[in-house]
Amino acid sequence: MTPRVLSALADAGYRAPVTVIVGASAESASVLTEMAPRLPYPISVLHDVDDMAAQMTAADIAIMAAGSSLLEAASLGLPVVAVVTADNQQRQGAAIHEAGAIRLAGDWNSLDLPALADMALGLLRDPSTLQCMSENGMRLCNGRGASRAALAISPPRDNAGNGIGLRPASFNDAELMFRWQTTPGARKWMRNSAAPSYAEHMAWWQRRLQMIDLDLYIVEAPKPVGYVRVDGMADGRHEVSIMIDPDHAGRGVGTAALRALRRLLPELPLHAEIRPGNLASASIFAKAGYRQDGGNGWYRSDPIAAGSGDARTTP
Ligand SMILES: CC(C)(COP(=O)(O)OP(=O)(O)OC[C@H]1O[C@@H](n2cnc3c(N)ncnc32)[C@H](O)[C@@H]1OP(=O)(O)O)[C@@H](O)C(=O)NCCC(=O)NCCS
Repeated sequence: MTPRVLSALADAGYRAPVTVIVGASAESASVLTEMAPRLPYPISVLHDVDDMAAQMTAADIAIMAAGSSLLEAASLGLPVVAVVTADNQQRQGAAIHEAGAIRLAGDWNSLDLPALADMALGLLRDPSTLQCMSENGMRLCNGRGASRAALAISPPRDNAGNGIGLRPASFNDAELMFRWQTTPGARKWMRNSAAPSYAEHMAWWQRRLQMIDLDLYIVEAPKPVGYVRVDGMADGRHEVSIMIDPDHAGRGVGTAALRALRRLLPELPLHAEIRPGNLASASIFAKAGYRQDGGNGWYRSDPIAAGSGDARTTP
């Protein structure tokens, strides 16, 4: 596939450098080395790389098979022109295309190579579409699958021993969120204590879900019972806020949700502001390992050190 794609790019007028990444046993490696001097653009052929994330981050666009590497590219914001090379790539490729993170060029057996080259070149001439694809990819896949799987297998538990899960919020959670945002008394400790109208809420919800760096999770016990969210602050810190439906409060759900969040985002220092008098909040953040940070109502939870085992053993 690779030599023919390179030739098609040359025929379409492409002239900028290309990095070709092949596996250690790729049969095309020697063919590529031979064809390199004949191409009208420079190519670097890398074999069996161990820094794929860095390579993906450095690229403007990739042409690749529609396998599971598409999700790696999406999480790194790399726009892709993808080719289906096996039946089991059909559904995934179509879904990621639908989400706007890649362009599907078609099936390898019936591929129109000049059309694929035109598609890639067209995207390279269209930075705003590339930017859009990049953001769609990062929205689609945040790269935290391993932590989410670990949490699903071994979740923190509430006082009754029930596993507490976190799942990313979606547009369909709008009604639930509105109910929680307007529950009598729920906003007592919030910075903005005025409950939004339904229209205000929906406008906010749409805006929030568009944000790439927003982590907003529905707390599941196993039904939805609240939310926990992380907002990037202007000074670079990450602020945690949480709300548990009063009907489910006092059962250890809030504490378990904060522990789950810690494991989901192990590399981030997390901060929370606890208003004087919010004793329930002070209690859950303390139990989840937050400590005073500066003494003005702010608390902090340090990252989980890599290899410490904390990610597995936190109750
Ligand atoms: C704070 C909140 C998330 C706690 O959720 P939760 O599921 O009830 O939390 P838990 O059951 O895990 O723990 C609650 C703790 O608060 C304690 N608590 C509750 N009300 C209290 C009060 N009035 N005085 C002292 N302690 C209180 C409970 O005793 C419990 O601690 P314990 O287990 O050591 O006894 C929930 O009350 C809430 O959503 N509040 C409104 C929003 C808010 O204030 N969010 C925090 C700021 S971001």
